[in-house]
Parts: sequence; C-alpha cells; structure tokens
Amino acid sequence: MKILAIETSCDETAISLNEAKGGLKKPSFNILENLVASQIKIHQPFGGVVPNLAKREHLRNLPILYGKIKEKDLKNLDLIAVTVGPGLEPALWAGIEFSKDVYKKLKNKNKKLKILGISHLEGHLYSNLLQVKNKNTELKDLFPAIGLIVSGGHTTLLLMKDLGHWKKLGETRDDAVGEAFDKVARLLNLPYPGGPEIEKLAKLGDGKAINFPRPMIEQKNFDFSFSGLKTSILYFLRDNKQAKKEDIAASFQEAAFDVLIKKTLRACEEFGVKSIFVSGGVAANKTLKKHFKKLIKEKFEKKEAPKLMVTKFPTDNAAMIGVAAYFSFLRNKNRKLRANGNLSI
Ligand code: KG4
Ligand code: ZN
Repeated sequence: MKILAIETSCDETAISLNEAKGGLKKPSFNILENLVASQIKIHQPFGGVVPNLAKREHLRNLPILYGKIKEKDLKNLDLIAVTVGPGLEPALWAGIEFSKDVYKKLKNKNKKLKILGISHLEGHLYSNLLQVKNKNTELKDLFPAIGLIVSGGHTTLLLMKDLGHWKKLGETRDDAVGEAFDKVARLLNLPYPGGPEIEKLAKLGDGKAINFPRPMIEQKNFDFSFSGLKTSILYFLRDNKQAKKEDIAASFQEAAFDVLIKKTLRACEEFGVKSIFVSGGVAANKTLKKHFKKLIKEKFEKKEAPKLMVTKFPTDNAAMIGVAAYFSFLRNKNRKLRANGNLSI
C-alpha cells in the first residue's frame, strides 16, 4: 500500500509518503519521503506556539512540501492520511482542508483512493514500528508491550495487548513532561523548545547536585505529575541565586526521568510485558535512553528484561501518521475529518 500522510497538529508542517506491507502480523514500512518544515523560529520570540501563526505557516508550507513529492511517486496511491487530533484546532484544520483538496484532485484519476482521519497519539505510539527492520520480527514477539508517550502535550502510559488493543494505565494529571522541559527552560532563560536546550545544558552539570522532588513516584497508580517539580525549581532559583544552571538542568532532568522510568518499569513487571515502546518528542533525549537501559538492567537482573524500543522518529512527523493509517485501514477504523483538539487515545 502506498500512503500519503499529512500532519499539522502543532508547529511542524509534515508530509510523508510510505509504502506499507505485511499486514497486522508482520508490518514493515519503506519511507519514500519524510518532509518536515519546522516553525520553531517563528514561535521562538513568543516562548511557545501561537495557534493562529501556526495555521498561517501550515497554509504556506503545505503546498511547498507537497510540491516536492514527485508526481510519479503519487501514482497508485492507496490512502491519504491526515491528523485530526489532538492538537491545536486551527492548525489541524489547515491539514484537514489541504488533504481533502488533494484527495478530490487525485480521486478523479484514481478511483481506489481513500482518505482517513488519524490520531496524532496513535502516530507517536506506532512510530517505533518504522524501525522494525528485522524481517523475522513478528509482532507477537513484541507484545504484550508497554507504551510510553512523552511529548509536549502528553505523558501517557499504555498496556498494549497487540497492535489494535490497548488500555490506558495512567497519564499526567497536570503538565506533560515535554511541557515541564519547556517551562523549566523558560525559567533558565533558554529558548523554546526547551527540551533540547535542557538536554545540552544538563550534559555540563551534575544530576545529583540538587535533590528535586519526584512527584508520585511511590504511588501505586501509573499517573504522573510534573507541575510541582517545575514550581520547586522556580523556588530553588529564587532562593539560590548562585546555583549553577547546568546543575539545575541536570538535576531537573534526573528527577523527571526517574519518575517516568521507575513507573514504566513497575508497569512492565506487573504486566509481564515483552517490550517497551517509548515515543514522542522527549524520546529524542539521549539521557532518557541511557537511564532506561541502566534501570532495566538493575530491575531485571535475574529476570527476562523487556526489550527497550525508543523511537527513531520522536518529534512530530508524518511518517508515523502513515503507520497509524495503515493499521486503521487494516482494522477498518475511521475517524471523522474534523479537527478535535482533545481527541483522546
Ligand atoms: O512530540 P512532539 O514533537 O510534539 C508534541 O506532540 O507535543 O514533542 C515536543 C516536545 C517539546 O516539549 C520539546 O521540548 C520536547 O518534546 N523535546 C525534548 C527533546 N526534544 C524535544 N525533551 C527533552 N529532550 C529532548 N532532546
Ligand atoms: Zn507530537
């Protein structure tokens, strides 16, 4: 199947072209195009994403990116997939309207063409499958799995029985972890988006220098909370003007990751899973992966350890929407072509 995917839920305009095969048992993907136009520079002066500016930029960038795809590659297209939520509604609408126009235009010459609305979160969750290259890896070898989505809008832990069946185990009760990175970065006078900036600064600091709180780490549930951690950094900065920013960044990162990883591994143990899918923008953080590996080794010293799969497509992209679309198509799942800012997984 050939799938054109369009993603405009936040501040990245993204279009991809994927080939998908193998069905639900042995899916594999070939990325023909994976184009992203980032708007970071536009939003940076505002310290965060401005929805109407995002929409304006999507409207400008979509035809430019689409124009980069070769016409011959669009022949035999089977599916157009577009993100319908969650995200910023004005931004989502830009992608939806554009996709509908492309669909109408191509459908004239291609009667089999279909269009599907896709969840951005399912995209993140399935993004790990873009890198399952081993032809012998059958999905049954990976499931049941724990899914951890860590992005600017979400921190969600899921138990995945198989590709289409999952249960939400927990989520953040206030700020998402990426949002906490962005807010702490602002406190440290670092530019937006804060995640990569904090990661860079933290490399120069000592993560054990300051013992910031680890909210909800001892609680038996699988929920998270990050706004108290951010506030404790605000007070720490107020009371410790001489403290090194590098140590604050490293100690914040350490505290946030400690909670994320320990709760995720507790879920792995409780549900006896075979793998962990980590996705979303925060999964770009190399220290997160390093800590995960270390703590898996410690916790599963004498037991079979779950396979850690950190996505190679962490920040927003359209290739992951193409993957989610393949599964939606195979499972006959469809969503309305209407923006839903709060669409839940
Ligand atoms: O998945 P994503 O691109 O967009 C949403 O769906 O939200 O995630 C963006 C978030 C931002 O909060 C950004 O600061 C964070 O991911 N992020 C990182 C890193 N790269 C991006 N957080 C920590 N470390 C990184 N290297
Ligand atoms: Zn995202």
